[in-house]
Amino acid sequence: MDHFQRRRGELFCEGVPLRRIADEVGTPAYVYSRATLTRHFELVDRALGGGPHLVCYSVKALSNLAVLALLRSLGSGFDVVSGGELARVLRAGGDPRKVVFSGVGKTELELEAALRAGIRCFNAESEEELSALSRVATRLRRKAPVALRVNPNVDAKTHPYVATALRESKFGVPIGRARRLYREAAALPGIAIEGIDCHIGSQLTSLGPFEEAARRLRGLLAELERDGHRLRHVDLGGGLGVPYVRERPPTPARWAAALRRALGPSPLELLVEPGRVVAANAGLLLTRILYRKRGATRDFAVVDAGMNDLLRPALYGAEHEIVPVGRPARRLTTLDVVGPVCESGDFLAKRRRLPDAAAGELLALRGAGAYGFSMASNYNSRPRPPELLVSGDRYDVVRRRETSAELWRGETIPEDLR
Ligand code: LLP
Repeated sequence: MDHFQRRRGELFCEGVPLRRIADEVGTPAYVYSRATLTRHFELVDRALGGGPHLVCYSVKALSNLAVLALLRSLGSGFDVVSGGELARVLRAGGDPRKVVFSGVGKTELELEAALRAGIRCFNAESEEELSALSRVATRLRRKAPVALRVNPNVDAKTHPYVATALRESKFGVPIGRARRLYREAAALPGIAIEGIDCHIGSQLTSLGPFEEAARRLRGLLAELERDGHRLRHVDLGGGLGVPYVRERPPTPARWAAALRRALGPSPLELLVEPGRVVAANAGLLLTRILYRKRGATRDFAVVDAGMNDLLRPALYGAEHEIVPVGRPARRLTTLDVVGPVCESGDFLAKRRRLPDAAAGELLALRGAGAYGFSMASNYNSRPRPPELLVSGDRYDVVRRRETSAELWRGETIPEDLR
């Protein structure tokens, strides 16, 4: 459930008509619903409420400071994958003791920044990272809290770009090598073993792969206990899918119950790193039709948002529901909805049946809250759109539209070319 509803035919976000936002701040624009973000976070948090747990919202999905501050106020922890994301969390007032740091290529500078901040745990992904971390921690006279990210070799049955636990994946350490690595890690002077971690992929729409991964971790946990390690937590990552157009993923409640069941009775704290399920359907991208155009074989709606604003259709063939902001026309038509960027990959939808809409009309791309703005770029020297957070009858511009001058800030023309 979300808070984007029609009233007398017009699409609203909570109490604010989207047309008003488009008139006041222009298009394209990302619009987020505070009530929906809150609801989604609380659904996940409550679903895990049966035992000790920590929800570490995955910052990469939607990393605006206002959203991070909102989630922090609800008690969320954070999953970060770069020094930049960690800096954002701290800037938004996030508690470093609730931060886990994942990623296969953490630099020494990033490790140092996270150690100084005092984060909850490093999700280490290789032997060499463990030695680097131990070295940096020893230099700072600290112990780095560590979980090993294990690759349980489970097919998440999702888009190949977002499956992360196949045998050929770059992520984590193969589960068969984990025991040896735990032994070696425990012997390193700068490392303190805290837990175990996995993340098998994103936009999963069935429970089977989650259950299989949790069962494999459970087996490994028993062996680690026998080897004398004392772990405090199990982190099962993120990955729960959302309904975009046709998908029917399990609810957070069923997901959480399945994880607990597969892990079995355990005193360990359960960590999860959801991103998409919190943010995706809490946001949409507002765009205006610039032109309608007839090609040789297809009809197009050329809109003012492009692949630089929302990359998912171009990169994954992802489908986002598209709806008119005004009262939908009765007549349906089949359209390619495309952006202004000079690439044939710049489409937002292909052969979509939509209520007929003319130039000047507003469309909304639903489900764009996660991996929308956070993957936006300046390709074609297009300033990135503003981000708005709606709270009831009010909205705040939580990131204003970029200007062209901001795009070349930091560039210099050599003296002799000026
Ligand atoms: N934890 C780790 C270690 C991750 O790599 C990810 C996502 C998450 C948690 C959060 O997963 P979620 O709950 O959002 O599924 N750009 C792609 C998605 C990439 C996901 C990357 N990792 C997309 O637009 O579909």
